[in-house]
Amino acid sequence: MAAQQRPPIIERLVVIGLGLIGGSFAKGLRESGLCREVVGVDLDPESRRLAVELGVVDRCEADLAAACQGASVIQLAVPILAMEKLLRELAKLDLGDAVLTDVGSAKGNVVRAARLAFDGLPARFVPGHPIAGSEQSGVEASNSELFRRHKVILTPLERTDAAALQLVDTLWRALGADVEHMAVEHHDEVLAATSHLPHLLAFGLVDSLAKRSENLEIFRYAAGGFRDFTRIAGSDPVMWHDIFLANREAVLRTLDTFRSDLDALRDAVDAGDGHQLLGVFTRARVAREHFSKILARRAYVDAMHSNNVIFLANPGGRLSGRIRVPGDKSISHRSIMLGSLAEGTTEVEGFLEGEDALATLQAFRDMGVVIEGPHHGRVTIHGVGLHGLKAPPGPIYLGNSGTSMRLLSGLLAAQSFDVTLTGDASLSKRPMNRVAKPLREMGALIDTAAEGRPPMTIHGGRRLGGMTYEMPMASAQVKSCLLLAGLYAAGSTTVIEPAPTRDHTERMLRGFGYPVSVQGNRATVESGHKLIATHIEVPADISSAAFFLVAGSIAEDSELVLEHVGVNPTRTGVIDILRLMGADITLENPREVGGEPVADLRVRSAKLKGIDIPEDLVPLAIDEFPVLFVAASVAEGRTVLRGAEELRVKESDRIQVMADGLLALGAKVEPTPDGIIIDGGTLGGGDVHSHGDHRIAMSFSVASLRATAPIRIHDCANVATSFPNFLGLAAQVGIRVTEEGKS
Ligand code: S3P
Repeated sequence: MAAQQRPPIIERLVVIGLGLIGGSFAKGLRESGLCREVVGVDLDPESRRLAVELGVVDRCEADLAAACQGASVIQLAVPILAMEKLLRELAKLDLGDAVLTDVGSAKGNVVRAARLAFDGLPARFVPGHPIAGSEQSGVEASNSELFRRHKVILTPLERTDAAALQLVDTLWRALGADVEHMAVEHHDEVLAATSHLPHLLAFGLVDSLAKRSENLEIFRYAAGGFRDFTRIAGSDPVMWHDIFLANREAVLRTLDTFRSDLDALRDAVDAGDGHQLLGVFTRARVAREHFSKILARRAYVDAMHSNNVIFLANPGGRLSGRIRVPGDKSISHRSIMLGSLAEGTTEVEGFLEGEDALATLQAFRDMGVVIEGPHHGRVTIHGVGLHGLKAPPGPIYLGNSGTSMRLLSGLLAAQSFDVTLTGDASLSKRPMNRVAKPLREMGALIDTAAEGRPPMTIHGGRRLGGMTYEMPMASAQVKSCLLLAGLYAAGSTTVIEPAPTRDHTERMLRGFGYPVSVQGNRATVESGHKLIATHIEVPADISSAAFFLVAGSIAEDSELVLEHVGVNPTRTGVIDILRLMGADITLENPREVGGEPVADLRVRSAKLKGIDIPEDLVPLAIDEFPVLFVAASVAEGRTVLRGAEELRVKESDRIQVMADGLLALGAKVEPTPDGIIIDGGTLGGGDVHSHGDHRIAMSFSVASLRATAPIRIHDCANVATSFPNFLGLAAQVGIRVTEEGKS
């Protein structure tokens, strides 16, 4: 497909060097119409003839001076070691206002050569490097689509003319490239690591094996691994010889680092250190998966991409079936944390493979813990003991997960190393002083951004002292954070809560053999004990089940069973509130699994009525209010919630965001500082915004069951943080919600 024809923006483009890259650049821009004329220069007469014949250029010149006459842009596409001589020749010519740019794969030496040739770097020189190529070469391989969706890195210098930079940027974008700007040195380091080193290894490995006498045998039996690893050893030797000479310093730095890592692997093999090998291999595998996602543009649900996911929920529907929602988020986080700090190997089943829990898992991998999986909810954690964590290689990114950041801050406050914790746009707005303040009272040294927001830098090497802390708010995250810090603090640490909150940390610590004393609203730990590896079965998350409890209640003629749901009494507020509203929910087959109560929940349609929600139930249903507001908006009469100001500092301001959405659907709601008043009635359709909050997105999906028209829910990508297969399970039981644009 030819590039779209546009009006010319430059008079004459001159491309020097009509190989694959130069030819493709010339051909693409010629087809785009952006240049009134495209002139090619090449030493080889056959290439010049072919370039005209194949429509790569309008005409060719053998003489550089003649070609550059009146040029607007001159693209240098000669081999990198020929650049120096070419630049010297160009410096002798009158180039007028022409913009110079190049495609060399190392930038430091081109910039150096230009500086020498021109006696100072010309302001209209824009160094560039397209990261594209193919096994083919020569002008006959010119392809106007070669750069589409490929990265092109421009490395402007301080005195580079802004208009020249803009022009070169525009030309590459016209070819469909993703243009990025970076410093010369950074470019050379990055390319040395990601491109030059792998080529060196591939050439080196094939040569080393081929030199051996038995080489025929080796190649005859070479399996897929050898073939895949050495594909790039088929690249152009002359070009690569040039690149290594041109990017010598950066290649040496990355090669030396790699050599010491390779030596460490050799030592591990020599010592039979399987643990070390497994650590390297599991980390590498995860890094490779992450990197594949980056290539496919699916890495981490960041704010920019999350805007793109829209759920379309069609009205009506009856629910039936039996489903098991994914594993409990709170318990999944804690299983990784305590499993990592335990002695021995912990097996986890039912682990939630959502982005939040995966962020915790990755954080511990970054701190040197070997973790296998997750694979179908199974995770194997090779615990390092309370004092075995290592400094991570860089800041720890925790995505959307407040639980990860708050709990980690407690256990990191007592490590020997510094760590910085960062997160996405939503997490970066959430209050961290609630943990930073009491941790500082215990002796921690913690920096935050303004007003106690992330990023948090937690300094190592501090001695913590135990204390008794009366929490100003009912928060299981703050309680857990301080108990985890208490594992390391001198003496005992007691947390007093104003109302009961989820007690998974206390239960799981005991499951790992660590004593915790709980008396009324006080939980106490002492340092000096250890965690012993155990087996953890994570029950289904009642917070995810809640969407279906409301859905099954408000949809007509429905009956649904939710299997193996965790019914810890500190989490069942949603069932109590729904029952007070008249819901028909029964607990079947109650049992205890690994210290946590579990049951199957049966829900049938019921006529709901509005209630005054008892304040003591608020912390026990803290994550379920968005969907409870949906229930209230279709119930008969008024529902009033008070004492729930914590909802304003969740992944979004859940009072305001739900009120805005429900109002948009025609409901009668009035937000108050610490709650909401909802007069039940009917819901219409319309557009609502989840503000990147997973639970808001799922709540409005449920609202569609009683809406009179479709609901479009914006910004839904973060549903993957807690409920990766929400759309699949919703469809399975009869909720008519899909991702817009997908079948
Ligand atoms: C959680 C505690 C709650 C809850 C969050 C998970 C936990 O937060 O909202 O989703 O795992 O400890 P707060 O402690 O801020 O109430």
